[in-house]
Amino acid sequence: MSMTDTCEPILKGQRALVTGASSGIGAAIAKALAAAGAKVVVNYAGGADRAHAMVEKIRAAGGEAMAIRADVSREDEVEAMFAEMIETWGSVDILVNNAGLQKDAPLVEMSLADWQKVLDINLTGQFLCSRAAVREFLRRGVVPELSRVAGKIICMSSVHDVIPWAGHANYAASKGGVSLLMKTMAQELAPQRIRVNAISPGAIKTPINTAAWMTPEAEAELLKLIPCRRVGEPEDIARATVWLASDDSDYVTGATLYVDGGMTLYPGFDQGG
Ligand code: BGC
Repeated sequence: MSMTDTCEPILKGQRALVTGASSGIGAAIAKALAAAGAKVVVNYAGGADRAHAMVEKIRAAGGEAMAIRADVSREDEVEAMFAEMIETWGSVDILVNNAGLQKDAPLVEMSLADWQKVLDINLTGQFLCSRAAVREFLRRGVVPELSRVAGKIICMSSVHDVIPWAGHANYAASKGGVSLLMKTMAQELAPQRIRVNAISPGAIKTPINTAAWMTPEAEAELLKLIPCRRVGEPEDIARATVWLASDDSDYVTGATLYVDGGMTLYPGFDQGG
């Protein structure tokens, strides 16, 4: 329930766009936002079938959703996606910058193409989508019946915005960039009633990291890095996203919420030091 003291769904009437929403964390977020009453754009870049299946799932559960294809690193495609959403639903209230990928290699073997691709999707994509959303937030302004602010942005970062990660220089650099992009946007836009926050997931069971938890041996190794001793589920991230998207977190901006089972607590120091 929201701070409005009613039994209305917490995001009733709001329009959300979730990038990379056809699988993994993005899919769980799309479902959770819809369950909280928002209409949801399920953005995808490839795999139209999965995106449309997601939309069907949301509709079957009584929610409202539509799928829109766009590569978040392409300015023209991002602009077209927002134009379609605004034309169909009138505006956008919530942006979840979730789309992201890994292309891992030791530094000396990392190609410029793989460096660039990860920066393009993980960082430039968040800039392009945020810019498009903010332009619309500013055009529309605050609609008090919907929310106390003109818009909310949630940036999906990673524990690797603070934890260096050998063999993943492109990914760690992109997430470090997301962290300061988020804070800078939050500082710049707070006076205009726009809230910007980040979630930094730890190890969550999704297609991006199957190798890290698929076998019992791999999972046992991974659990050494997680004080709570469980690998996270996409729903752990989805619940945090709904909160950051709602007026319940109205006084929170520029924050990074680590949803990581304690991964950022230097688990190697649980003894000694
Ligand atoms: C990465 C995962 C990894 C996790 C914890 C995430 O940002 O995408 O592959 O398991 O961080 O290291």
